Amino acid sequence: MQLCGLSKRYPEGDTARVVLDGCDLDIHRGEALAIVGPSGSGKSTLLNLVGAMELPDRGALWFAGQDLAQLSETARTLFRRRHLGFIFQQLNLVPTLTVLENLLLPLELNGALDADGRRHALALLERVGLQGRDASFPEHLSGGERQRVAVARALVHGPGLLLADEPTGSLDGDTARVVLELLDELRRERGMTAVLATHAGEVAAKADRRLALGAGRLQEAAPA
Ligand SMILES: Nc1ncnc2c1ncn2[C@@H]1O[C@H](COP(=O)(O)OP(=O)(O)O)[C@@H](O)[C@H]1O
Ligand SMILES: [Mg+2]
Repeated sequence: MQLCGLSKRYPEGDTARVVLDGCDLDIHRGEALAIVGPSGSGKSTLLNLVGAMELPDRGALWFAGQDLAQLSETARTLFRRRHLGFIFQQLNLVPTLTVLENLLLPLELNGALDADGRRHALALLERVGLQGRDASFPEHLSGGERQRVAVARALVHGPGLLLADEPTGSLDGDTARVVLELLDELRRERGMTAVLATHAGEVAAKADRRLALGAGRLQEAAPA
């Protein structure tokens, strides 16, 4: 995916806050790329643009020969369902659905909820260490377990690109390390590309490449 001159501003009173000011970025196939920067620097905004959840004011996002910024809302939704896996900071698990039902959602949205899909989801659940928890509801899981459900849900439909916003933000150090290790392992096995927004050095250290976001621009960051 290629980002060209992405700009994004939000209105603030009579003026506007410029969050991204001409960001260029090549996301290489199969790499894990960390976007680092302090709180408020625009990491989540950048991820939301890459995930076609928001539109830039200016600039293009090239993916498979198409500029995502020019697609209709319906086409962007289809792009997200097919190609993207998301791990949100707040996880966004559906509280009224069981662990397994949460996991099956991305398959259902892609019309892939058949016996194979179900088997695959159960195997993935086991892989993230949650065998036997398929009928549990998210509120009965620990923070680390919920995070592992979120990891499995982001991968279950086999997306090429994983977007993770502060993927270990709400976990204690040991739990964060376990989740991070698992995420990295699954990503490598599947040859997935990942973009991780983080202010945690540990998350950034695991990535192949680090870019720092500051004053609306991306710059090569020092090795973690
Ligand atoms: N929907 C929005 N409306 C107005 N301002 C926003 C919105 N989203 C983000 N911002 C502002 O953009 C800036 C960058 O936010 P964000 O992308 O969340 O940064 P980070 O993820 O690095 O903490 C912040 O100043 C934030 O207040
Ligand atoms: Mg953020």
